[in-house]
Order: sequence, then structure tokens, then C-alpha cells
Amino acid sequence: MGKLDGRVVVVTGAARGQGEQEARLFAEEGARVVVADVLDEQGAAVAKEIGEDRARYVHLDVGREDDWGAAVAVAKEAFGKVDGLVNNAGILRFNALVDTPLDEFMEVVRVNQVGCFLGVKAVAGEIGAAGGGTIVNTASYTAMTGMAAVGTYAATKHAILGLTRVAAMELAPSGIRVNAMCPGAIDTPMSNPSQLDPEADPAETSAALDELYRKLVPLGRVGRPREVADLALFLTCADSSYITGQPFVIDGGWLAGVSVI
Ligand SMILES: NC(=O)c1ccc[n+]([C@@H]2O[C@H](COP(=O)([O-])OP(=O)(O)OC[C@H]3O[C@@H](n4cnc5c(N)ncnc54)[C@H](O)[C@@H]3O)[C@@H](O)[C@H]2O)c1
Repeated sequence: MGKLDGRVVVVTGAARGQGEQEARLFAEEGARVVVADVLDEQGAAVAKEIGEDRARYVHLDVGREDDWGAAVAVAKEAFGKVDGLVNNAGILRFNALVDTPLDEFMEVVRVNQVGCFLGVKAVAGEIGAAGGGTIVNTASYTAMTGMAAVGTYAATKHAILGLTRVAAMELAPSGIRVNAMCPGAIDTPMSNPSQLDPEADPAETSAALDELYRKLVPLGRVGRPREVADLALFLTCADSSYITGQPFVIDGGWLAGVSVI
């Protein structure tokens, strides 16, 4: 028996990285999943690999309200309902705040923050109608502390925690739990763009990243996307049945404290 038998979960940004691992793990645990992304070829390939009976790909730009309506319609037509959402899609831009063009700031807000808001808005009624379920928002360790050079990103991730808390309070009467994940450094194309280089050896690029984080992170390595998927699974299945409105840091101990050794 799977932990998500009978569930139908939309995972945004599921063509690669953490979202891909979440979609694959959820399907392994019995869920039917909607793999949503703007990377159509990659997303469709992920859904195909998971299998037609378990997964559908849908083009969904999370910052576009129309796209959300279409994605929910695809989910309902294929699987009859929606009772789970992982708001995973996100983008990162590096810039000092005072050097950040307004267009760049607004694009990060549009995807990370508005995308999360629209996701909650689009699926809450459906999850309520299905008898309850879960929403997991993907924030970041930069939702818990500042980080120079990623101010726009950090601001949106702080905002996601506010959204998570309020949504948890407002949606509890409909049987919907809403929590947030705050990953530290995770080995995906976002933190490790060399993964996108077809010439690069994945084992070598991951080892280089582990070396970078060996001293920064108490557990001495970068996190793996499957480890974040495991947390998303916990927050989506009944194991977390009395938990809502909370941020969960998954960072190898990075935020535990400062170190001088
Ligand atoms: N990798 C890390 O170190 C790290 C740390 C903390 C938080 N996060 C967060 O985890 C989430 C997943 O990131 P990842 O590490 O897997 O990165 P990633 O770049 O590998 O994956 C992000 C996915 O989101 C998709 N996406 C981007 N814009 C979109 C849009 N407008 N609509 C729909 N999909 C869109 C991308 O196409 C991609 O498939 C993000 O929210 C990110 O901010 C990542």
C-alpha cells in the first residue's frame, strides 16, 4: 500500500530538479500526478516515463491564471479530482538589490510569489470539494534569513511563508493542510547549472558542489532533490495529519548556527 493511494496531486515545475523527484516519488507512493511546467519537452518525457495511467503533463506557467484553470481541467478530466498541490516552480536571479532592474524583480515575484498564490487560489475549491487534502509550498532557507545577492528571491520566499500561514488558517475548515518547505542548497540545475551541460559528468559536478558545502553545512554536503521529495511526501500524506501552517527547514543544519571552526 502506498502513502498516497487514491490521491491526485499537481506538482509545478516538475520537468526537472526537485519537482521531478516529487512527481516520481508521489507516483511510486500510489498518487496520480499532474506534471506541470513550462519546459514542455522535458515535462512530457517525465510524465511518459512515470506512465500514462499515473501521470499527465500539462503546460502551466504558474504566473498565468488562465493556465491554472486549464491545468485543473486536465487533472479532473484525467483523474476525476485534485486533492493535492506542490507549489514547486521557482526562479532565482543574482543581483544586489540596488542594481536589480524593476522588470527582473517583477518577474521573480510573478513566478515565485504570484505563482504560489494563484496555485492556492486555483486548487483550494477543488481540494475542498474532494473532501480535503494538502498544499505544500516551496520556500527556501532564504525565507528564514537574509542572503546577499539574492534579495528579490529572498523577498519572494519570505512572502511564501506569510501566504502559507494565512492559507492554513483560512483553509483548515475545508480540510486542507498547507505547509512550506525551506530547502538549503540542493543539487539541481538551480544551484548547480553545470547539470544542464550535456558534456559535464553529473557525478563530478555533484562532487564539486559537495566540496563547496563541506565546510558551510554541518552535514558536510549539498542536499539531494530526492531528500526534499521525501519531505514533500511527508507533508502530503497522512503522516503529517496534525501539522499545518508551518515552515520546514531541510538544509543539512546550515541554519543551525554560525561556526568559527
Ligand atoms: N536548488 C536549491 O538549492 C533550492 C534551494 C531552496 C529552494 N529551492 C526552490 O525549490 C524549487 C525547485 O527548484 P529546483 O532546485 O528544482 O530548480 P530547477 O531550476 O531545477 O527547477 C525549477 C523548475 O521550475 C520550472 N519553472 C520555472 N518557471 C516556471 C513557471 N513560470 N511556471 C512553471 N514552471 C516554471 C522550471 O522550468 C524548472 O523545471 C524552487 O521553488 C526553488 O526556488 C531550491
